[in-house]
Amino acid sequence: MRRLLIAGNWKMHKTVPEAIELVRELKELTADVDDRDILVCPPFTALYPVRRELEGTNIALGGQNMFYEEQGAFTGEISPIMLKDVGCSYVILGHSERRHIFGETDDLINRKVLSATEHGLTPILCVGEKIEERESGETEKVVERQVKEGLRGFNPENEFVIAYEPVWAIGTGETATPELAQEVHGFIREILSELFGKEKAEKTRILYGGSVKPENAKGLLEMPDIDGALVGGASLKAESFSKIVKFDREE
Ligand code: PGA
Repeated sequence: MRRLLIAGNWKMHKTVPEAIELVRELKELTADVDDRDILVCPPFTALYPVRRELEGTNIALGGQNMFYEEQGAFTGEISPIMLKDVGCSYVILGHSERRHIFGETDDLINRKVLSATEHGLTPILCVGEKIEERESGETEKVVERQVKEGLRGFNPENEFVIAYEPVWAIGTGETATPELAQEVHGFIREILSELFGKEKAEKTRILYGGSVKPENAKGLLEMPDIDGALVGGASLKAESFSKIVKFDREE
């Protein structure tokens, strides 16, 4: 019913030649995959060359962030029009590194989400609790706030994706167990149902992110409310990323 989405977040990795090499390998390894969506989100400098490599393939392109204005005096920023221009169809917004290293607020992220949608990009809204929030029993409260604030004013006729990424599992090698992740995914789907109705909630993809690897992908992706993965470290090698894409195949 919900088509899986396996997304690679390359973060601040890969020069242009490295990006081209990675995507060339990846497209070969995933050429036979047509029953799920594959997405790569390279750094801004590699978007255009990667898009050229992706032409005619089943792999979509996304940005890792953007500003909400179309153009203007915003030094160092990238606009939704620019992302569309280089062939992006998705954009990751509110990643925990944006929230916690660069101080992005729910309000700023919400503006970005609305602007992305207005410009025909599908936002991937990232949410997730920090370790101290989990330990003090605040996971649901934090996730609920991030989802509701991030989607404030969102027109549910448009598509969006949520990525649940517990901050303590990102880049640490520590993954949430499938059961723990499923619990939060189920909770997020309830919030979406409250916001937009059951039908929209059932259609919307909720990805899991945080140290997803070929070894743990299957357990996570087989959970009923986990509709894909947002993969950081393991997306930097074609071999490991393609194994996650093909998590349920014997090869
Ligand atoms: P990781 O990153 O897979 O390296 O933990 C995931 C993410 O931050 O999106």
